[in-house]
Amino acid sequence: MPCGKDFKMAETKGNPAFACARQVCKLRHSVAMAHQKENWHSGNDLVTIFSMPSIAIIGSVRKQKSKTGTITKRLIAGYSCDIIDLKACAVAPYNHEQEYPDEDEFISVVHQIVYAPLTIIATPVHWYSYSTRMKTFIDRFFDLRRSQYKELGDQLKGRNFALVSSSTEPGPDPTLVEAFSRFCEYFGIHYVGCAHAASGGDFCDAEAVARIQGYLTKESVEMPGAF
Ligand SMILES: Cc1cc2nc3c(=O)[nH]c(=O)nc-3n(C[C@H](O)[C@H](O)[C@H](O)COP(=O)(O)O)c2cc1C
Repeated sequence: MPCGKDFKMAETKGNPAFACARQVCKLRHSVAMAHQKENWHSGNDLVTIFSMPSIAIIGSVRKQKSKTGTITKRLIAGYSCDIIDLKACAVAPYNHEQEYPDEDEFISVVHQIVYAPLTIIATPVHWYSYSTRMKTFIDRFFDLRRSQYKELGDQLKGRNFALVSSSTEPGPDPTLVEAFSRFCEYFGIHYVGCAHAASGGDFCDAEAVARIQGYLTKESVEMPGAF
């Protein structure tokens, strides 16, 4: 089980919020195993098909009535898409020694991402960039370029990511969009587009919304190799 061998589910350390996110992670991993549909050959390559929901990762720092949360929920309403609120998910800041607390959940979240037809990164615009919470999450992807998790990082290639942004401006911030699309390019991730809304209002680009929702209708992903 190549993508599962590093899978680590730390015990809850007395924090009910983390316990909730961890349960979602645990559930999704076992569901992924249960929902593997079939192995089949594509040319000489063996392919496994998984049937899993998409995933929306929300990085607002507002405790309640987050505009980022509101617009993301509107975007995914009626589609098969789980939400991970980074407020309730233990993701420690990146460090070069790759030493993280036992309760750290970053790798568990990545295991979910590799099965998801679409991953939505939803953030408020803070100083033309991600919120601190989302930037902390994005920074951790650097761990996936290094030995222990390289195999998992390689599985991001070809995955589909979209950006949801919320700010006071009518359009998406070009600096944020460039940073995100270049991040996708670095990992060989397909950047689907950006759905932006000002102050929790309507999305400014109906075409981008339709394109993103098109990916939300997909219900399975193909992974190379047998599981
Ligand atoms: C620290 C900080 C920095 C911000 N920087 C920007 C910015 O660069 N451009 C912008 O249009 N809005 C900026 N805003 C406004 C937020 O992007 C906007 O209120 C957003 O909709 C809040 O989403 P939330 O309710 O999920 O926190 C900033 C807000 C904060 C708190």
